[in-house]
Amino acid sequence: MNKDNDNVLFSISVCGGDGCTSSGGEIVRARIEKELTDKKYDDKIVIKDVKCRSLCFSGPVVMTAKGPRKKIYKDVGEKDIPGIIENIIKL
Ligand code: FES
Repeated sequence: MNKDNDNVLFSISVCGGDGCTSSGGEIVRARIEKELTDKKYDDKIVIKDVKCRSLCFSGPVVMTAKGPRKKIYKDVGEKDIPGIIENIIKL
C-alpha cells in the first residue's frame, strides 16, 4: 500500500537510534504495526523511522503527529501502544 497519499492523516515515529533499539524499540515498532493493522488504521496512520532525538536514556522514544501537532512518548512499552494510537486520533 502506498502511504504517501492524502489518506494519511497521522504519523507515528519510532526512534531507530542505538539507545532506543537496545531498549526494545524494534519490539515496540512491531507492536505498532500489528495494532494499526488490527484496528484498520494502517491506511490513516503512517509509521516513520527517525534518528536519535537525544532522549536516549528514556527510550524507546515514540513520536506522534498530526500536521504541526506533535507529542513525544518516552519509555514506551508494548502495553502503551493501544493508548498512544488512540491518542493520535485526538491530536
Ligand atoms: S537513541 Fe532514541 S533518542 Fe537517542
